[in-house]
Amino acid sequence: MTGGAGFLGSHVVDALLARGDDVMVVDDLSTGDRANVDRHADFAVADVADLSALQRGIGSRRIDAVVHCAAKTKVVESMTKKALYERVIVGGTRNVVQTSRRLGASIFVNISTGGAIYGETPACADETVPVDPQSNYGRFKATAEKLVESSDLRAVTLRLANIYGPRQRTDLEGGVIAIFIGCWKRGEPITLFGDGSYERDYVYIADVVESVLGALSGTHAGVYNIGTGVATSVNDLVSALAAVLGPPLGIVRAPARPGEVLRGCVDPAKAAHEGLWRPKTGLADGLRRTAAAEGVLLS
Ligand SMILES: NC(=O)c1ccc[n+]([C@@H]2O[C@H](COP(=O)([O-])OP(=O)(O)OC[C@H]3O[C@@H](n4cnc5c(N)ncnc54)[C@H](O)[C@@H]3O)[C@@H](O)[C@H]2O)c1
Repeated sequence: MTGGAGFLGSHVVDALLARGDDVMVVDDLSTGDRANVDRHADFAVADVADLSALQRGIGSRRIDAVVHCAAKTKVVESMTKKALYERVIVGGTRNVVQTSRRLGASIFVNISTGGAIYGETPACADETVPVDPQSNYGRFKATAEKLVESSDLRAVTLRLANIYGPRQRTDLEGGVIAIFIGCWKRGEPITLFGDGSYERDYVYIADVVESVLGALSGTHAGVYNIGTGVATSVNDLVSALAAVLGPPLGIVRAPARPGEVLRGCVDPAKAAHEGLWRPKTGLADGLRRTAAAEGVLLS
């Protein structure tokens, strides 16, 4: 597991340990936290973009399956730190693929993005829609997908919509729900970029973890969208949060940000039809569970 100290990766680690797997995590702790990683997982601090450090970190361990989560994940930051994003996302994926082949992994689960790879999606995009990333983050994720597809590993690429849930950092830009819940928790106003009409497909963390487990255990290969197929505007998200937490303590308006699409939504029908996965948790339920885990739920 790469990136196993991060938000998604650490939840996947928990689920793998719970089903009895031996888990080895490689993470450089640049945005992840060692405290997120269950002590029963083996852990090495290493940069996936540094091949010899990655291989030293793994040592002589036998690896059956790889889940590749490690990435820089800030869409806006990727516009000013292009070289860093290319190094970690493209170079890192190349190294992890190479290492997985060398170690004879039987399945490679590549964590990609649905939210940042399709560009504008007036209708929720299925996997046949040509990719049209608007940010360096999305462009490098698209290149990383090609690296994975062109290897001879059995690989499943999961194009994830916007994930939310417990343990998501409030200081990373991808997690608008974590950011908003943090504002409610601290009694601060929320900031809305643009007019709040931006729409995103929000998928609950536990559902995403199930998609990774599905990819690991099945015989699937190729690209699958993992999302709900429902686009929710930021304004509607604020209303849904207000229904759970009470009204926000003010709203600050800020200019729209570069590199952000207006509407991002993925169609998860392929994963459902092929028996890999289907979403279970509705937004209201997921928000309640997230707020409860953060200790900010109204009684
Ligand atoms: N959060 C979302 O909404 C979302 C949506 C679509 C796709 N994704 C993808 O899911 C994956 C996990 O994202 P997340 O939201 O958990 O972010 P995160 O920042 O919490 O996790 C990323 C992890 O990768 C580690 N990492 C970063 N650079 C590394 C490097 N060079 N070497 C080793 N480890 C490194 C970080 O320390 C962190 O633990 C990423 O690939 C991201 O692109 C996330």
